[in-house]
Amino acid sequence: MCGIVGYIGESQAAPILLDGLSKLEYRGYDSAGIAVYDGENIRVQKAVGRLKVLSELTHDGATMPGISGIGHTRWATHGAPSNDNAHPHYNQTETIAVVHNGIIENYLKLRKRLEQKEYQFLSETDTEVVAHLLDYYYKGDPVETITKIMHRVEGSYALGIIFKDHPGKVYAVRKDSPLIVGHGKDGNLIASDVPAVLKYTREVYFIQNEEIAVLTKENIGFYNVDGEEIQKESTTIDWDINAAEKGGYEHFMLKEMYEQPRTVRDTLNPRIKDNKIVIEELGMSDEEIQAIRKIHIVACGSAYHTGVTAKYIFEGMARIPVEVDLASEFRYRNPILGEEELVIIISQSGETADSLAALREAKAKGAKTLGIVNVVGSSIAREADKVMYTWAGPEIAVATTKAYSAQLVAEYLLAVKFAQVRGKITEEEVGGFLKDLQKLPEQIEMLLGNQEKIQHFANRYIAAKDVFFVGRGIDYAISMEGSLKLKEISYIHSEAYAAGELKHGTISLIEEGTLVAAVVTQEELYKKTISNIVELRSRGAFVLAVTNAGNQEIEKAADYVLYIPQTNKYFTNSLAIIPLQLFSYYVSVGKGCDVDKPRNLAKSVTVE
Ligand code: G6P
Repeated sequence: MCGIVGYIGESQAAPILLDGLSKLEYRGYDSAGIAVYDGENIRVQKAVGRLKVLSELTHDGATMPGISGIGHTRWATHGAPSNDNAHPHYNQTETIAVVHNGIIENYLKLRKRLEQKEYQFLSETDTEVVAHLLDYYYKGDPVETITKIMHRVEGSYALGIIFKDHPGKVYAVRKDSPLIVGHGKDGNLIASDVPAVLKYTREVYFIQNEEIAVLTKENIGFYNVDGEEIQKESTTIDWDINAAEKGGYEHFMLKEMYEQPRTVRDTLNPRIKDNKIVIEELGMSDEEIQAIRKIHIVACGSAYHTGVTAKYIFEGMARIPVEVDLASEFRYRNPILGEEELVIIISQSGETADSLAALREAKAKGAKTLGIVNVVGSSIAREADKVMYTWAGPEIAVATTKAYSAQLVAEYLLAVKFAQVRGKITEEEVGGFLKDLQKLPEQIEMLLGNQEKIQHFANRYIAAKDVFFVGRGIDYAISMEGSLKLKEISYIHSEAYAAGELKHGTISLIEEGTLVAAVVTQEELYKKTISNIVELRSRGAFVLAVTNAGNQEIEKAADYVLYIPQTNKYFTNSLAIIPLQLFSYYVSVGKGCDVDKPRNLAKSVTVE
């Protein structure tokens, strides 16, 4: 995810571009850049780091005079954060500049073709192909050129473009990435999202897929993919400027929960080709996968919880022994590692100190290492032998939701791949798994649609002192994450327990009315967990069960039941966690807690 802006009008462009970008930093913040036409040339200035570095470098835009320009705040996907990879990107003669949000899926093919035509690339990005492709097709008419590249480029894009030959105009086009146009009194603007323009105007056009916008100082023209002019109606924005950054959601956590279907899809789709799992970045031959003797999964917090789930899947499906460790423990237990062991480090930020130290320990002992990381170019991504990215985009809320879901999906893909290569599952089974995986985004969406019922339920537990989460097998792993979510954002004490272990002590804590959330998604364990539910209820617990659709049996045992749609037993975590996230969120909101920034916590823990 990245943010783009553009401006043309009576005022100086650079300060407006920087201000607009500051409202889009939630979309990416590893580097930024602006391009401004200074009356003779298009000048570009870029800087690695937060936007403030670029603002300081340009004296808040004062060093970049000109009344038209485009800008970008980046969240790296293709190529690490660097000056070369930061946008805007030029064509070779620096007569065209482009900013881009989205992913050009066929960029490698296009890049190869352009290189054959002597185009030289300065970055590793997918975006640079757009700049050169525009150059290749440009015959003097920008709209015609843009329509031509729309037929060549596959994937998603919101583009802001300026042409030196057409200094009085800013061009924009989109497909599957957001783009709006603001009609201001002293100029017009483009942006990835409404907050970037609200200071200048409340009159906004929402650009639809494959629509082109051409902005001049006074006017805005819209065109379709055939270059024909179209009419569009503007909308007056009446939201509060603070809420706008969160896309209308009350908190980033809520917004990010609702982004989970997209996150899961983005992590899954590029790795499923012709009904096969293709994880190019893994760089392991079938022989190497077959030679793995043991997997160690090492992580902290929620990432560790995804690892606990993955253990059940790797062992169950691929029959590879797995050890899961908290990174802070792993590094001090002198783990036995060698070259036949694969150490998987899971981390959203890629900077967690203990996870990074564990990675170094594993490498020093000669193990193969793989990072499952969200932040491109982060320390763990750079240092691990191989890296598989989760495409969750920037996560702002401290309590992770969408990165957690993306990590799970990355681990599912690896497990199915390993099981297949090691001959533990048939082609037919692979097909079945892939079908179930591809249904997950829609099923998550459906569960998110059920929020009212959960909110209602959560309101009853705002005053709770203790809550327990119980389950067996994968359900225990889900319980761990459910419990962490609740305690970290609502400050209610909660514990996750393996359901069968309760009676060895913990059950003595159950009092009349104590809430116990029982996760019951593993069919072969239904009966066992139901007996535990009965034990709990007879001690006064109020039991909320989260179970698969069709498991009506449970209604006799539990007090309140939430159903998740049918999926493969290995993938239930992705669904069962949704109501638990919503529950924690609404308890926290009900208690008036700071949902996005809970006390004492940091998003990225870079100390031991
Ligand atoms: C912090 C965050 C958690 C996260 C954990 C690991 O505690 O609040 O949400 O799961 O760190 O972070 P990582 O970036 O390595 O996934």
